[in-house]
Amino acid sequence: MSASTASAAPSPQPAPAPLGAARALLQVDGLVKHFPVERGLFGRGDAVVHAVDGVSFAVGAGETMALVGESGCGKSTVGRLVLRLLEATAGTVRFDGVDLTHLPAAAMRQHRRALQMIFQDPYSSLNPRMTVGQTLSEPLLLHGLAKGRRAERAAELLDLVGLAPQYLQRYPHEFSGGQRQRIGIARALAVEPRLIVCDEPVSALDVSIQAQVVNLLQDLQRRLGLSYVFIAHDLAVVKHIASHVAVMYLGQIVEHADKDNLFAQPRHPYTHALLSAIPLPEPGRVRARVLLQGDVPNPIAPPSGCRFRTRCPHARQRCADEVPQLAGEDGHTVACHFWREIALPAALQPAAVPPGANQRLAYLQAAFLPQAERAPC
Ligand SMILES: Nc1ncnc2c1ncn2[C@@H]1O[C@H](COP(=O)(O)OP(=O)(O)O)[C@@H](O)[C@H]1O
Ligand code: SF4
Ligand SMILES: [Mg+2]
Repeated sequence: MSASTASAAPSPQPAPAPLGAARALLQVDGLVKHFPVERGLFGRGDAVVHAVDGVSFAVGAGETMALVGESGCGKSTVGRLVLRLLEATAGTVRFDGVDLTHLPAAAMRQHRRALQMIFQDPYSSLNPRMTVGQTLSEPLLLHGLAKGRRAERAAELLDLVGLAPQYLQRYPHEFSGGQRQRIGIARALAVEPRLIVCDEPVSALDVSIQAQVVNLLQDLQRRLGLSYVFIAHDLAVVKHIASHVAVMYLGQIVEHADKDNLFAQPRHPYTHALLSAIPLPEPGRVRARVLLQGDVPNPIAPPSGCRFRTRCPHARQRCADEVPQLAGEDGHTVACHFWREIALPAALQPAAVPPGANQRLAYLQAAFLPQAERAPC
């Protein structure tokens, strides 16, 4: 099968039965975002970046949905569409039953308070010329909150994220990365949101600090009943915080499951590869590493059929001809024609026995050999 990319037409997936749908606070259906771009000097006309193509999910009150995938697969675009910082090309975002995608601007402003965002780089998202006190007072002022007691409320917010009130007079450059992220969280909390999109909130932090910030987010969730859409590029980060996990590849969700199911019984070959990159906590034990070949294809011309086929070791003709639909039972959905025959949970177990002694493991490792070393499919 050719590894070339072929389709220009988008191939949105139908809406799956999203987890948390019965009690959804946030309900996203068939979300599409295409960015028109110029092909450049030698290009022939305009092109379209298929950043998000038919994404559906639901997040219940007090839940955390993790959105995971390699850089460029559309995670931040989904986050921005949810908050309507970007206008969707198609699809709907419902929050507490209200369709945000078609709300007039004035009505949208009323709902914006309930939805906030935390960014990867807290330094660039904080104004360097504003003290922490000013940063935290700004949203209070904007939304007419805590009238007559804004300084007090700013101190409360700092306390909520584990920082002392004397920091109110300081500027962002006087803080460490972890402290700056805490200030970013406090600013998001100022308007008493119900859902926060956390866009790679710990990716820029030292590993030792990452756990502290994740713990803080979990603690705040318990105390304030918050819902999160937690964006990350690797599964290790979301292992403790997620209620359910959606794995994205090239603008589409390829697998979505309850966290425990996804980690114990991954079904999509891409999820296998992402999971295999997580180190095991026990010293001296390793997972069979699944190395993917090549980069994510150009989202201007995504591959026909299954978008993962150019990197999938199990790809065959049907994968190029037919778009796999996201489907499955018990809320564990997967978009792969052949997941039943290629799901190999043994591959994700510790390699306690030599690979040669474990046929299933050996099969998977062979499957992920470089293209040139594989038998043609
Ligand atoms: N404003 C834009 N114009 C054109 N392409 C964009 C724009 N924003 C994002 N993209 C493209 O959309 C795709 C998804 O981007 P993004 O959502 O930032 O991915 P992720 O957050 O998973 O790294 C990427 O190919 C990116 O280059
Ligand atoms: S549909 Fe085909 S190419 Fe896509 S993940 Fe499944 S086996 Fe691989
Ligand atoms: Mg991003």
